[in-house]
Amino acid sequence: MDTWQHTTVLLNEAVAALIGDSITRPDPTYVDATFGRGGHSRLLLSKLPPQGRLVAFDKDPEAIAEAARIADPRFSIRHEGFRQLGDLPSASVAGVLLDLGVSSPQIDNPARGFSFRGDGPLDMRMDTTRGQSVADWLATAEAGQIAEVIREYGEERFAVQIAKAVVARRQERGHLSTTAELAQLVAGAVKTREPGQDPATRTFQALRIFINAELEELQQALEATLDILEPQGRLVVISFHSLEDRIVKQFIAANSREVFDRRAPFAPPRAMKLKALDRIKPSPAEVAANPRSRSAIMRVAERTGVAV
Ligand SMILES: C[S@@+](CC[C@H](N)C(=O)[O-])C[C@H]1O[C@@H](n2cnc3c(N)ncnc32)[C@H](O)[C@@H]1O
Repeated sequence: MDTWQHTTVLLNEAVAALIGDSITRPDPTYVDATFGRGGHSRLLLSKLPPQGRLVAFDKDPEAIAEAARIADPRFSIRHEGFRQLGDLPSASVAGVLLDLGVSSPQIDNPARGFSFRGDGPLDMRMDTTRGQSVADWLATAEAGQIAEVIREYGEERFAVQIAKAVVARRQERGHLSTTAELAQLVAGAVKTREPGQDPATRTFQALRIFINAELEELQQALEATLDILEPQGRLVVISFHSLEDRIVKQFIAANSREVFDRRAPFAPPRAMKLKALDRIKPSPAEVAANPRSRSAIMRVAERTGVAV
């Protein structure tokens, strides 16, 4: 048993959105693209018919270790980023769930380097078996690149000041290697603090999104769902900040429109690929029980039945 626990957000709502009232097909395949600690996967498995399948993905080796405890022949786990969703066969999937961002074990365990609370190595990789840590990247990145990442992914007003402080510190005392060192440096560079928010919040969010290529992977995974979902297949995405939610909202909107070809004004419009179904937020009771759910927004869409 893992020391670090994750409380699943919108557990019943997400599974209901994926499967509707009940599963009528004898052999559907579902995808949990963000296994985490398997909250959604386990509930989905409890509702899956004997010939059904659940394919899960996660980048994190600790999530993969947890998934290995599920001894169910209908279940399989892939240690891959969800940008690989497109490897699944076309029109083969009845529902895809993306519960984005980090799990509580990733945030709570200081050894993973995601949090400015508690000291640990400045890592922040979801997949600790490959790629560059935040410390490695900050050791060589130019001030302009650092400022751009912090501004774009953290929407931080003091991005330039923080980037300059990182470079100055590197020149004076060597590169940053711990979360506490970065948090302290940011606190010195951020002049006005938002009430109730640690000055390092935005910078840590930005570096995490960048080092894990979170938004690029999300965009690629969403595009892949258009291919792998079968007609009437469901797309369910839970996001936790506005940068993610904007991508999901725009993706659903862009694919829910009938497209007219201006060069062929009398031709029928190309059919839309998705139908937006729902936008759901956690209930006040869920937020009270699990404050980390407070920023969650779940969007649900259905693949249309028309071949395009
Ligand atoms: C919010 S947690 C999911 C929690 C899960 N639904 C549960 O109930 O336990 C997000 C998980 O997605 C994983 N993850 C985030 N981005 C990923 C990506 N691009 N590809 C694969 N896994 C990813 C993280 O490692 C983390 O374990």
